[in-house]
Amino acid sequence: MTNETAPKTARLSLGDQEIELPVMVGAEGEMAIDIRKLRAQTGAVTFDPGLGNTGACTSNITFLDGEKGILRHAGYPIEELANQSSFLEVMWLLLHQELPLKTELDSFTHDITHHTMMHEDLKRLFASLPKAGHPMAVCAAAVGALSTFYQKEGPKTPEQNWIDAIRLLAKMPTIAAYCYKHSIGQPLMYPRNDLSYAANLLYMMFGTPCEAYEPNPVTARALDLLLILHADHEQNCSTSTVRTVGSSGANLFSSVSAGISALWGPLHGGANQAVIEMLMSIRDGERSAREFMELAKQKDSGVRLMGFGHRVYKNYDPRAKILKSACDDVLGQLGKRDPLLDIAQELEQIALEDSYFVERKLYPNVDFYSGIIYKALGIPTDMFTVFFAIGRMPGWISQWLEFQADPDKRITRPRQIYTGATPRSYQKVEGR
Ligand code: ACO
Repeated sequence: MTNETAPKTARLSLGDQEIELPVMVGAEGEMAIDIRKLRAQTGAVTFDPGLGNTGACTSNITFLDGEKGILRHAGYPIEELANQSSFLEVMWLLLHQELPLKTELDSFTHDITHHTMMHEDLKRLFASLPKAGHPMAVCAAAVGALSTFYQKEGPKTPEQNWIDAIRLLAKMPTIAAYCYKHSIGQPLMYPRNDLSYAANLLYMMFGTPCEAYEPNPVTARALDLLLILHADHEQNCSTSTVRTVGSSGANLFSSVSAGISALWGPLHGGANQAVIEMLMSIRDGERSAREFMELAKQKDSGVRLMGFGHRVYKNYDPRAKILKSACDDVLGQLGKRDPLLDIAQELEQIALEDSYFVERKLYPNVDFYSGIIYKALGIPTDMFTVFFAIGRMPGWISQWLEFQADPDKRITRPRQIYTGATPRSYQKVEGR
């Protein structure tokens, strides 16, 4: 659909009222009915739990077509970025919606590399939290706490917001590694500015002050690929949360901290941990792959095939496709074999041939194969979602900055359809 071929308006008849609502067309031909005046004109609101039919913003950052399995950032296909780009370059692309010139990338890399250290006082926050606490809880707390150091009030000028964006992108690996080191009781490692973004993250995760540690370049490249694949995914649950919190005028760090909490849930980013736990339970003989699949089809079992299904993709998630072949590459290059990969492939094969999954268009999503690579890289299972958060950081920040610059921005405040009691009189407790 183009602006020329799309209908200009949509007609709505509601009782004896007939109104015309403007139709918008996006850059890739997607149509939307603009209902901003609906309530004022008719007194009615729309009802869309889960917001599956609601466009909450316009955006220049990411396009995805769930029917065709397409994902592009500012026009660039995810497959090309995964093959040829780097996580730092993708960060810039999301933030500016253009690829950087060599000089721009060099100076951006320098800035990110030189903001990696954290304020020493922030270490006390880690020390005060239980070691057994989930690292996502620690991570959300630490990112929220950055606002006590850097951005005490709400959003500021674009220049000040940019500095905070750099700080957050740069410090996120340090925070993530501190979450892990704290949980195992090892000394927190200071960042090394001579290493790449991914290699430095590995160094802070696995190095100790006692002996030299050099990150494996194969591991660093695999990690960079994972970060690229997680960098943005338009208005998913956590990104919508970041925009929503930012819409109240909250600062960048608080908004992103809320996004980290939203990501943690097993229906969203937490699925990567849930997938590995599911595969391990099958490996350990709790039930066979076929028995598990039967259970996943029964609504009242409370079991879902984790890493499968997506609100928007009704086709193979293009990120899952890349990750599936990366699994073979990375395991091969690191000389590792993992029976969990065989189990994952068996589950996928069963699903692709089973009418339950076929009819509902349930395919592997980004979380289905990512955990197997994280595991091969030595990342502990409960850190998987933290690594997802490191990858998603440029997406959250770009979307937050885009929201701040949007002339049409308004505080997010949905309506509801009230279904509770109608007016009644208060009775004192003695008389109830
Ligand atoms: N296993 C079994 N059945 C499923 C699954 C699954 N993984 N996913 C969806 N279904 C079924 C639902 O029971 C429903 O069946 P019905 O039509 O008979 O009622 C149908 O497929 C549609 O599912 P919904 O839950 O309505 O789809 P929705 O778009 O709301 O949910 C979601 C999407 C949350 C991702 C879902 O597919 C799911 O729970 N997947 C497993 C968790 C997961 O992998 N999450 C990560 C998503 S990617 C990301 O966020 C980074």
